[in-house]
Order: sequence, then C-alpha cells, then structure tokens
Amino acid sequence: MTTTFPDGFLWGTATAAHQVEGSNWNNDWWAWEHAEGTACVEASGDACDHYWRYPSDLDLLTELGFTSYRFSLEWSRIEPEEGEWSLAQLDHYARMLDACHERDLLPVVTFHHFTTPRWAAADGGWTNPVTAERFARFCERAVAHLGDRIAMACTINEPNVVSTIGYLVGAFPPGRTQDLDGFVKATETLVAAHGRAFEVLKAGPGDFPVGLTLSMGDWGAEPGHEDKIAEYRAHHEDVYLEAARGDDYFGVQAYSRTRVGAAGVIGPEPGVEVLPMGYEYWPTAAEAAIRHAAEIVQIPLYVTENGIGTDDDEQRVRYLRASLEGVARTIDDGIDVRGFFHWSLLDNFEWAFGYLMAFGLVAVDRTTQARTIKQSARWLSEVVRTNRLGA
Ligand code: BGC
Repeated sequence: MTTTFPDGFLWGTATAAHQVEGSNWNNDWWAWEHAEGTACVEASGDACDHYWRYPSDLDLLTELGFTSYRFSLEWSRIEPEEGEWSLAQLDHYARMLDACHERDLLPVVTFHHFTTPRWAAADGGWTNPVTAERFARFCERAVAHLGDRIAMACTINEPNVVSTIGYLVGAFPPGRTQDLDGFVKATETLVAAHGRAFEVLKAGPGDFPVGLTLSMGDWGAEPGHEDKIAEYRAHHEDVYLEAARGDDYFGVQAYSRTRVGAAGVIGPEPGVEVLPMGYEYWPTAAEAAIRHAAEIVQIPLYVTENGIGTDDDEQRVRYLRASLEGVARTIDDGIDVRGFFHWSLLDNFEWAFGYLMAFGLVAVDRTTQARTIKQSARWLSEVVRTNRLGA
C-alpha cells in the first residue's frame, strides 16, 4: 500500500526542555531525581546539552528533511523565583526560534512539559489553584518576548500524565500514590491553567494556533469489563478533550494500549510483545487515539508525539510504518489530521527511567555527546521528503 499524505502535512520531531537541555536544576523534576526513595534510576545531569548544541541539532533536522520542530520553554529558567524574569533566558529561546526559522523549520512551542519551578511546586504545585494564574502570567511574559516568532503553541503537554503519575502512581513529583483528592484538584487546576494560557497566548503578540497535547492511546478491557473503558477515559482523556473543544487544534500523543479489568488498570495481555517501557508493542495506538479525539473535538488534529523506546532500530521502523499506516487510514476516513511529530529527535532523559530508553532518531553518546543518525531516521526521512509511505 502506498499512501500520500495531504499537501502541507507537517513533519516534525519533538523534544522537551528537561529531557534534552541539561542542568535544569531549578525545577521540581531535578529535586525529584535527587530525592531519597524515588523510582528514578539516575539524574538528568547534562542531558543532551541541547541548551548549547541546538544549532547543530537543528541542522540534523534539516538534513533529514523535517519541516517543523516542537520543543518546550523551561519555566524555571525564565522565572527562577516568583516574579523575577530572566531576559537572558528569554533571549536564549528567541535565538532558538530564529534558528528554526533560518532553517525553514516551523517552531511549535510547548509552554509546560512536565517541569514546574521549585518555588511554584513548593507552594502546592498543581493542587494549588493559584498555579493556574502563575502559569498564565508566565505564558503572558514569555509570549510578550517571543510571540512574533512562534508558529504554533501548546499550552501544557500531557496534563493527564502530570496528574495521574504525580498523584495516583507516584513516579512523578510530587510522588503521591492513590491520592484521589490530589488527582482531582490537579486536574481542575490544569484545565483552568490551559484555559487561562489559551487566552493570554491568543492575545499575542503573534498570531498562531494554540492547543494542548494529551497522552492518549488505545484501550482494551478484560471480557465483561468493557464499560470500564469509558469510565477511565472520562477522567484521563475526555475531561481535557471537552475543555479543548474551542481551541485551534488538538495534539494527540499515543504510544501503546491501556487495559482495564475488574482490578482497574491491568498489565499487558499475555502473548502481546512487551516493550522496555513495560507496556505493549501496539502500533495502532495513534490511530485509535485520533479516532477517539475526533469524536469529541471538531478541530484540526496533529499527532504531536508518537514513537517507540527500543534499542532495536528495525523494530522502530516497523512500529513507525504501522503507526503511519494507521494515521493515513484516519485521513482517508476524512479526519482532519495535519501533521506528525516523532518522539523524539534525540535519545534523551526518559524521566524516571533516566537514559535507559532510546526513543530518538539520533543516538547520543553519554560521554562525548556525539550524535549518530540511526537507520530509522533515514527511513523516516524518506517518508518526510516524499510526503508518502512507500510500499
Ligand atoms: C512525554 C515525553 C516522554 C514520552 C515517551 C510522553 O508521555 O510527553 O516527555 O518522553 O512520552 O515516554
């Protein structure tokens, strides 16, 4: 099967500040990596030194033919203490945005990708409603400086992961387990923060689409427990999809499948391959997520993250091919999907898993920081350049 993607389809890769920049010591994640008793296997340290190496990293994107780059601003650098603004850091991101434009890469800017400044986290973080206002104020200050250079904005990356993993699972800060009250409060604040950030970003300067990105995927149930899918989706996905109905676009992010049963969330189905991340090899996750998102939001969709953490680069190609075939099916069915962002450009800091997971199209030597383009990157590059998935 040969599939041609629509004209103007955006092809990008995505990163997040804390996972690639290095030395982001002033946020809750750095504190969490260094706290006793967490599940973190190692600290982020220098990460990929992307803070300094972004020009040559962006050259790699151009070499591979991508048309867009999604990255995040590190709030804790721009507002290191409450109300103290760093013009030098804002200038840094202005230079990054200029560097994207110089290479004809459309910059997609995420304003919050999992990390919160220490001072805001210490004051209740996302369970404190004030955090929504503080976040909006940060967005306002940042857009005043950078808005003219932004092509597309994401307010908050995967707010549902912040609330679920931070308050129910305990593997993200603040490390609460089964704190239902915290989960509900964080969800409310995150939804409010998105709404307020949307308003201030739309006020400009600049004129660009604004939306949010959500952790989604396929869902499965133990026989007899199918009704649980709607129940789980309601709290983890639909609450955000409904809040995003009036946005300019919606960012679908999907990697795998979640199964539910009598005991709640259950593990992989016996017989299905399990990836190093602990979840199923499930390359139709993006397709399933797009279809569900399209049922609720009637706005353009982008796959703002999709990829696989694996040391087997041939498996990455198989996954991406199957995944893109699924995306193409949704487009054939009339769903307005406008772009695909591979997670990630570089092998980077995979949160609690540290550097054990390889999601990148480009490998990074942990000692020398040398970059090596993988075969999967060459394969995806061909798709990107031709805008089609060959047989
Ligand atoms: C997040 C990324 C993460 C990726 C792979 C997404 O949930 O936005 O930060 O690295 O998945 O696990």
